[in-house]
Amino acid sequence: MKYTTLKKSDIEVSVIGLGTNAVGGHNLFQKLNEENGKELVREALNIGVTFFDTADIYGFGRSEELVGEVLKDIKRDDFVIATKGGQHWFENGSIKVDNHPDYLREAVDKSLYRLQLDYVDLYYLHFPDTETPFAESIGELARLKEEGKIRAIGVSNVSLEQLKEANVHGNISVLQSPYHMLDRSAETELLPYCVENNISFIPYGPLAFGLLGGTFTQDFKFDTHDWRQSLPLFQSKQFHQTLEIVNKLKQFASQKNTTLPNLALAWLLAQEGVDAVIPGGKRKERILENSQAIEIILSKEELNIINHILRND
Ligand SMILES: NC(=O)c1ccc[n+]([C@@H]2O[C@H](COP(=O)([O-])OP(=O)(O)OC[C@H]3O[C@@H](n4cnc5c(N)ncnc54)[C@H](OP(=O)(O)O)[C@@H]3O)[C@@H](O)[C@H]2O)c1
Repeated sequence: MKYTTLKKSDIEVSVIGLGTNAVGGHNLFQKLNEENGKELVREALNIGVTFFDTADIYGFGRSEELVGEVLKDIKRDDFVIATKGGQHWFENGSIKVDNHPDYLREAVDKSLYRLQLDYVDLYYLHFPDTETPFAESIGELARLKEEGKIRAIGVSNVSLEQLKEANVHGNISVLQSPYHMLDRSAETELLPYCVENNISFIPYGPLAFGLLGGTFTQDFKFDTHDWRQSLPLFQSKQFHQTLEIVNKLKQFASQKNTTLPNLALAWLLAQEGVDAVIPGGKRKERILENSQAIEIILSKEELNIINHILRND
């Protein structure tokens, strides 16, 4: 495994992390097995993964609880936990973005309780709140950092304008945004801003939410309650066109003696500003496979070929 340090911090993480929205994320996926979820976390630790990404909203707290149950047996310095908050959920299942300082303070305490920890390494605002100014929400996270409850501040799902506002005092260490071979919109503004402003960019959905795993076929369908079915990437016309690109990428990967998911992760890590990736999923054997992406070095020429494939030239 390779390790790197998150910007504006001394937090060292494995460059291949583990996304855990399928660990107890019962509100996102159907028929999740919690024991399998915990096994994923254990398997990741066994192969040197130290960077775990969760959120309070995954399973309405359940993901944090399950991840916490595994991590409680691990020496605190041997893992890095990132969680996210600022989405208030209610008994009827509805969700409201709430980045009010009082709510965030309460949310951090609840995350710590569920994770069985005294501090969280990286705490993200999960979504921007149109009512609470960033000065207030990030200001409260800065206070929680001073108090030692969090070690670094991140934001997620923000526009460039929102990121600039959140980072006005240079408090932001990490941006987490969607970015993968099949969605490069982050390259226009967000990624360059992160590079210029010393912010680590952590892409979510690094395997295009499964499409760059290379196993989806033309007739593929998600379970009815799988959150991914509403993503534009999986709507029928775009999906069929994208599968052609995926097949070309698969051929390229096999010429390079690797797999498509490893190529997709190595490609992200080759982009300036991307410090680590957090592939998710439900199958533990894939964690070992994904960890091997660090061995893939892409030359300038190979990156050019991939660009042509992605532009469908
Ligand atoms: N900030 C946000 O708003 C936000 C939004 C979404 C996600 N996230 C975070 O980002 C993490 C990663 O994103 P994601 O999990 O949604 O998407 P992802 O990592 O792009 O894709 C996960 C999918 O890829 C499949 N997969 C993983 N490794 C594979 C391999 N080697 N071969 C074939 N298929 C493979 C998994 O399959 P199986 O399930 O069959 O194993 C799963 O279907 C999440 O877990 C979460 O922590 C954050």
